[in-house]
Amino acid sequence: MKFPCRILAVAPLFLLLLLDSSASPASDNQFSMGHSNGHRCAGCVVVVSVITQLAQVHSSTVEASMERLCGYLPGKLFLKTTCYVLVHMFGADIIKLLDADMNADMVCHTLEFCKQDTGQPQCHLYPLPKEVWKLTQEKARHIVKKSTTMKYLQSGSDICSLPFLAEICQKIKLSIQTSMPFKDVDSDKYSVFPTLRGYHWRGRDCNDSDKNVYPGRRPDNWDVHRDSNCNGIWGVDPEDGIPYEKKFCEGSQPRGIILLGDSAGAHFHIPPEWLTASQMSLNSFSDLPTALTDELNWPQLSGATGFLDSTSGMEEKSIYLRLRKRNRCNHRDYQNISRNGASSQNLKKFIESLSRNQLLDHPAVVIYAMIGNDVCSSKANPIQEMTTPEQLYSSVMETLKHLNSHLPKGSHVVLYGLPNGTFLWDNLHDRYHPLGQLNKDVTYAQVFSFLSCLQINPCHGWMSSNKTLRTLTSERAQQLSSTLKKISTREKFTNFDLLYMDFAFKEVTEEWQRRGGQPWQLIEPVDGFHPNEVALSLSAEIFWKKAELQWPQILGKENPFNSQIEQVFGDQGGH
Ligand SMILES: *[C@@H]1O[C@H](CO)[C@@H](O)[C@H](O)[C@H]1NC(C)=O
Ligand SMILES: *[C@@H]1O[C@H](CO)[C@@H](O)[C@H](O)[C@H]1NC(C)=O
Ligand SMILES: *[C@@H]1O[C@H](CO)[C@@H](O)[C@H](O)[C@H]1NC(C)=O
Ligand SMILES: *[C@@H]1O[C@H](CO)[C@@H](O)[C@H](O)[C@H]1NC(C)=O
Repeated sequence: MKFPCRILAVAPLFLLLLLDSSASPASDNQFSMGHSNGHRCAGCVVVVSVITQLAQVHSSTVEASMERLCGYLPGKLFLKTTCYVLVHMFGADIIKLLDADMNADMVCHTLEFCKQDTGQPQCHLYPLPKEVWKLTQEKARHIVKKSTTMKYLQSGSDICSLPFLAEICQKIKLSIQTSMPFKDVDSDKYSVFPTLRGYHWRGRDCNDSDKNVYPGRRPDNWDVHRDSNCNGIWGVDPEDGIPYEKKFCEGSQPRGIILLGDSAGAHFHIPPEWLTASQMSLNSFSDLPTALTDELNWPQLSGATGFLDSTSGMEEKSIYLRLRKRNRCNHRDYQNISRNGASSQNLKKFIESLSRNQLLDHPAVVIYAMIGNDVCSSKANPIQEMTTPEQLYSSVMETLKHLNSHLPKGSHVVLYGLPNGTFLWDNLHDRYHPLGQLNKDVTYAQVFSFLSCLQINPCHGWMSSNKTLRTLTSERAQQLSSTLKKISTREKFTNFDLLYMDFAFKEVTEEWQRRGGQPWQLIEPVDGFHPNEVALSLSAEIFWKKAELQWPQILGKENPFNSQIEQVFGDQGGH
């Protein structure tokens, strides 16, 4: 069992190397492909930490711990195979270094996953005094003099160049680039495939080979012969000869929901079980293949367009599910045009993937929720990178003009404000990160500073120990929210009305506390940045309540035929 036992923590490594060459959460520079030794370094430190902790939890050797980790991986997407290959390439070096009591930082620096650029600080996750570092590093270099790992990294190879991964890498990259479903046949923007920007992101196409059939369109000939809008309602009532679509949906003001969002909108999420050695088991990585092909997003569970039952055990409903409950004719009419790293400034690069035909389709409720990246950046000086109120005004106007020329008359656009992100530091800095729980040695403050040092902190401004910087970031966020509000009161458009809503994280927190929760439980534990599923669904709930009170017109009428639709069409073909 010499070879398989090297099969290391490839899942996370694979993931991080793939992210490295594609996209990753929430900052603008990750919008572009490629570069970033930072992700490679962080990925290595995470994987090596997990291997070490697995060995500790199971009192096993490093080899056995790698074997265990690979054993946990599913076979799909060649993950197991990749694991074997990577362990074959890197395993021996890692074993040697860990057996010599090096920690993850040291292993990754020695093997040159982490590189210290001249003049830059040495980035490390675990505390380590300087003098020891130098000595240890010399010793470490001696141990792996002829390292295959270093040769591989120096050759500039990328994991996607492995022959059996080339195809899947290509598909993932393409769907990230275009925000469109990956399809073998290019007919329209809807798909029968869940991931790769398929129906996890927008309503499932009920006939992929007919481009006149897709969710959200007004029915063609009352859907007498086929379900042209995929809402599961079609055919003719044999009792009176009236088409069901006419009987149940005419005048019911059907509408779709479209989210223009960032990684929060897409529900970026890395399950903590992937990093928590003490909880890791055969089931831990079962979602990995799906998550990878959804760019680590889980739109199917998201606050705005989610349609699956939640995994958090809460009774929660996305805005889409609420609209569907209100009027079952809205079934499947959702589009989640969200993208990791999206901001007001780069939205124009993917807004074309929004699909709405002014002549043929129902109106839509569009939620514009760029809630972080206009103030969040990973650069050393984030202030310079922030969008200014003037820039925001003009780019939002551009977006709104685009929407006005694409949305059917009677649509609604809601601009969401930016949150005050000081709660991230306030609630997390002294808590232990999932990687630090076993040995109580990694707090969020350490993680944030490690990520900032590598210049891959998704929001250096808020995830920082520098109070001045955090305050400046919040102030800019507030100015940008005021700008959005100003746009909503000043500007008028022919095809939609324009509304503004605060991103009410404070209300979300208060509601959660009323239910007995703690504020830190609302933040994604692994990245320490994104609102989690609970937070997203609470904010969907708050959105809904406010809309019901203040602007019931955007939700449309309650359809009196809902129960009859259910009787005749059941789950309307599901999602
Ligand atoms: C899908 O559309 C094609 C082309 O219009 C048609 O031939 C086919 O029967 C349709 N399939 C279904 C399942 O409705
Ligand atoms: C949109 O999809 C993304 C990606 O899955 C998800 O994170 C996000 O929560 C979704 N947004 C809404 C409003 O559903
Ligand atoms: C904190 O951030 C401010 C604003 O970017 C900066 O001017 C200052 O030098 C920083 N302080 C420290 C200690 O890094
Ligand atoms: C952000 O929240 C913090 C803590 O609640 C508060 O002190 C600060 O004034 C807020 N900043 C803005 C701009 O609202």
